[in-house]
Amino acid sequence: MTITFIAAVARNGVVGRDGQMPWRIPGEQKGFKAATMGHPMVMGRRTFDSHGLLPGRRHIVLTRDPDWSADGVEVAHSVDEALFLAGDDDLFVTGGAQIWEAFAGLADRMLLSEIPLEPEGDTTFPGWPFTDSPVWREASRESHDGWVVVTYERHRPRTQVEIGPRVARSGSRIKVGASCAIRDGDRLLLTRREDNGLWCLPGGGVDAGETWSEAAVREVREETGLHVEIDGVLAAYSNPDVVVVYADGNRNAIFGVCFRAHVARGAAGLSDEVTEVAWLTEADVTRLPIVPAHRSLVRAAFQPPVTPTIFD
Ligand SMILES: NC(=O)c1ccc[n+]([C@@H]2O[C@H](COP(=O)([O-])OP(=O)(O)OC[C@H]3O[C@@H](n4cnc5c(N)ncnc54)[C@H](OP(=O)(O)O)[C@@H]3O)[C@@H](O)[C@H]2O)c1
Repeated sequence: MTITFIAAVARNGVVGRDGQMPWRIPGEQKGFKAATMGHPMVMGRRTFDSHGLLPGRRHIVLTRDPDWSADGVEVAHSVDEALFLAGDDDLFVTGGAQIWEAFAGLADRMLLSEIPLEPEGDTTFPGWPFTDSPVWREASRESHDGWVVVTYERHRPRTQVEIGPRVARSGSRIKVGASCAIRDGDRLLLTRREDNGLWCLPGGGVDAGETWSEAAVREVREETGLHVEIDGVLAAYSNPDVVVVYADGNRNAIFGVCFRAHVARGAAGLSDEVTEVAWLTEADVTRLPIVPAHRSLVRAAFQPPVTPTIFD
């Protein structure tokens, strides 16, 4: 399922006034009809009140009123319920502002008719304008007689770090590392290194041809005997002096990736590389000597997960 926001937005961000669109431009609605036809649409109760039923499309209307209903409409009382009703079909979020706001983190794409007017209004498009947005990138622009349709695509964080480009080679002086923050309740798994006696997150070097996450999983298994599954990226750290060269020729300065992970099977044990393995609480950890590069990772690992934003 792709989630697309579709709207007509004035140059000053205005989308509505007194429950209506503050302009009427002949032909502008045709693009809306063509894009949404046959797909489910999600809208707020106020937007539905302003235009009623549109033929050939499912209407999922969001309201907090448990008694509200209307003919031909599927009613949802939360974003989750609306998504559940939409199923796998590509979904269009047709407004208004409250609903775009509620779906803001979920949209993949925006189809915005930019209207070259600056009308008075009481409703504006959330986040407008997107010219310098770190999240939205203009993908295409199509001029019409009196408006321009701009398609924006979400700039995805580099989750490819997790699944993606294989490390073709790294310069001989460069250590490309992958590690895991493995939580079990309020405890985190740390290992004590044979070579320097310091504590750190289990992990090690990425081999040529491996993805970062494959390396992290392998290194944890070799160090502790545990089989882990990756839940997401905790953090990646870069150093402008260190460049990783990918198979496709791209270069990137990120050289260390730490994943959040959980134990799939096994119990933690010792290996040649570590002299101690321990499940430690945040309070325990503050008393231990930690490898400097891992101090901030260990702190972050005790925080609730956040989506990492690692942009190209
Ligand atoms: N230019 C465009 O492309 C465009 C497109 C659409 C709309 N508009 C304009 O935008 C204006 C309407 O926008 P709006 O922001 O005022 O209203 P809206 O988003 O259309 O609807 C707001 C209503 O949706 C329900 N709602 C909001 N968040 C919800 C949630 N999280 N869970 C359940 N229900 C939720 C509530 O309904 P209840 O009050 O029933 O609880 C709320 O009053 C109008 O002027 C319209 O013409 C413009």
